[in-house]
Amino acid sequence: MRILSGLQPSGRLHIGNYFGMMDAALRLQHEGDAYYFIADYHSLTSIHDAPKLRSHVRDLAIDFLACGLDPQKCVLFRQSDVPEVTELSWILSTVTPMGLLERCHSYKDKIARGIAASHGLFAYPVLMAADILIYDSDVVPVGKDQKQHVEVTRDIAIKMNEAFGEGLLKVPEPRIREETAVVPGLDGQKMSKSYDNTIQLFEDPADLKKKIMKKLVTDSTALELPKPIETSTILPLYKLVASPADYDAMVADHQRGGIGYGDFKKRLLEALVSYFTPMAERRAEIVADPGYVDRVLAEGAEKARAVARKTLARVRAAVGLGD
Ligand code: ADP
Ligand code: TRP
Repeated sequence: MRILSGLQPSGRLHIGNYFGMMDAALRLQHEGDAYYFIADYHSLTSIHDAPKLRSHVRDLAIDFLACGLDPQKCVLFRQSDVPEVTELSWILSTVTPMGLLERCHSYKDKIARGIAASHGLFAYPVLMAADILIYDSDVVPVGKDQKQHVEVTRDIAIKMNEAFGEGLLKVPEPRIREETAVVPGLDGQKMSKSYDNTIQLFEDPADLKKKIMKKLVTDSTALELPKPIETSTILPLYKLVASPADYDAMVADHQRGGIGYGDFKKRLLEALVSYFTPMAERRAEIVADPGYVDRVLAEGAEKARAVARKTLARVRAAVGLGD
């Protein structure tokens, strides 16, 4: 089973990215042949600053490794180290109906957030389809907001197969972890860097404390009263990082009353720190050895490119390019 996913290098990771996509992707590395990449071509739709893009790419590679990506088990690479994917993207674009792209929520959301409406942004799902199809991927672990893009990929693969021969491209499946489909942010909305409500994965401990104790929104229920479960901003975050027994105890304490939000927040803070500290320590080790990241990315690029070249050759032959 070939597993593939990508993340845009768009700044420091937050725990929504981690629990929405990365954690699931890292668990899957033990179940099959996993390919994970840093989607720097995609980031060009929003970042036009070369040093910034390069430093984000490096940070994301380090984050992947710090979170447990094992380069012996899976292939980690930079999307742009496999330029074949842009050629496949062009070929795919010639069978992609405009209406399919016009329906994509992500494009509309990004325009609404002020990202320039470039052709690249509109064609973003076609490049993503090329990313997935060029590696003959079976399974694509992504957050809920990327599910539509995987469906677009399936439609494009089916159209290619109808036009140029059954079995030309493998039709992939999305893999969404429903229980953590949307991680809430400090204000209770979806955690997103565009809403300024994130908890970063490798947050400075003092900032983390300030965010949890001061910025995480709670209601005004009096200390002695039971606290609402459904609307809690603390419980869904705690569930991600606490043991099931500790989580159940916090739910019971909400229902009982007599404990204030400050107390629950302290428990959340402790659970976050103990969950992410080992990864932060690993991150510091990786940062101290820059050659390691370069080696991992170079080996990853070589392996990924070998697969991509084969698929592209097959597609070029099927559509009538070259001799
Ligand atoms: P952001 O919303 O901060 O810009 P991205 O759109 O770059 O995040 O998302 C990168 C990946 O992380 C995607 O697979 C996305 O589905 C996942 N993701 C982002 N935010 C969340 C969240 N709050 N809950 C679950 N998954 C998320
Ligand atoms: N669009 C994805 C995101 O913003 C990143 C991505 C690019 C991707 N190509 C992909 C994810 C292929 C999965 C498969 O998060």
